[in-house]
Amino acid sequence: MVSTLPTLSHNLAAIRLDIRTLQPQLVEWRRTLHQYPELGFREKLTAELIDRLLTEWGIEHQTGVAQTGTVAILRGSSPGSVLGIRADMDALPIQEANQAPYRSQHDGIMHACGHDGHVAIALGTAYYLSQHPEQFAGTVKIIFQPAEEGPGGAKPMIAAGALKNPDVEAIIGLHLWNNLPLGTVGVREGAMMAAVEIFDCTIHGKGGHGAMPHQTVDPIVVSAQIVSALQAIVSRNVDPLKSAVVTVGSLHSGHTYNVIPHTAQMQGTVRYFDPEFEGFFRQRIEQVIAGICQSHGATYELTYQELYPPVINDRQIANLVRSVAEAVVETPVGVVPECQTMGGEDMSFFLQEVPGCYFFLGSANAAKDLAYPHHHPRFDFDEAALGMGVEIFVRCVEKFLAGK
Ligand code: NI
Repeated sequence: MVSTLPTLSHNLAAIRLDIRTLQPQLVEWRRTLHQYPELGFREKLTAELIDRLLTEWGIEHQTGVAQTGTVAILRGSSPGSVLGIRADMDALPIQEANQAPYRSQHDGIMHACGHDGHVAIALGTAYYLSQHPEQFAGTVKIIFQPAEEGPGGAKPMIAAGALKNPDVEAIIGLHLWNNLPLGTVGVREGAMMAAVEIFDCTIHGKGGHGAMPHQTVDPIVVSAQIVSALQAIVSRNVDPLKSAVVTVGSLHSGHTYNVIPHTAQMQGTVRYFDPEFEGFFRQRIEQVIAGICQSHGATYELTYQELYPPVINDRQIANLVRSVAEAVVETPVGVVPECQTMGGEDMSFFLQEVPGCYFFLGSANAAKDLAYPHHHPRFDFDEAALGMGVEIFVRCVEKFLAGK
């Protein structure tokens, strides 16, 4: 691990500023961040880089918000509304398999989701707006948020007052998205990403000889029935016009041929879009587990956690982002409305507080071998998306604040 970052080569003062001229700086910031990825709430170097640049540019900001978060405040030339822009900062516990010169220098940690790009885009937006206060009325708050990948930095940032003083009236945010090609934007109103819930369950049976099952309560048979029965919750209890997922991702029990073990452990996740399902899966999963355990004479311990609510976009703000995106990608076919994913995001907590829109910025480029999925050890994206991200944010700021 390094403790200080290298000096950056940019000299922005020499650049006549148009959003597109920021592109080389965006790439440099992104590659610097990519080399020094940090896990949730440990984004020390990342926060340092953000602080250093905002200070250099004379932008008012507060560091140490929810540990490693930063909130920057940009004021337009006249008073008006307050728009928030959110960028997540953290990396993942993945060993990078790319050989690029800017590959991760931190063993076992990698920006495999593109949050390095999100920080670079937010920095570019902050810089551009700081140089052009005459282009907007009102205030922009840029929220650099730690720990999106877990345990979640949005909630503690809200608790620390990131949306207050001045009070944010609407918020936007983006995710670079390798499920969409470069030059496209995914935006829709309503549910964009799913709620994320997880559960841990231990089945307690009674172990014994594999040849004398009548003397045991076999937790493997019990857990196999539970896994099968859980599949019926989505297929039989959920309106078929709505979407949900129940996945058991881990199931462990026993260690050899002829021994029936005492216990089995399972872990799983639940996803859904519709907030009406809040509490529903927790209850149904427990009913299924309890019923099957009871019928076999087994017992269970269940821990169930609601991690992130669904990401729900406001209609008006989504329309604003869509119209801006259409202008930036220069063709309406570049804007993809059907881009929902069962992935989750803690941007949802901000969207529960104020109306807003979270959208996907297409970043895959198969011709350049930049199309690996998010969280893959070879994930990388087409950096041409960075400039587009800044342009969309800046145009959204102008349009949102002009319309108020
Ligand atoms: Ni991500």
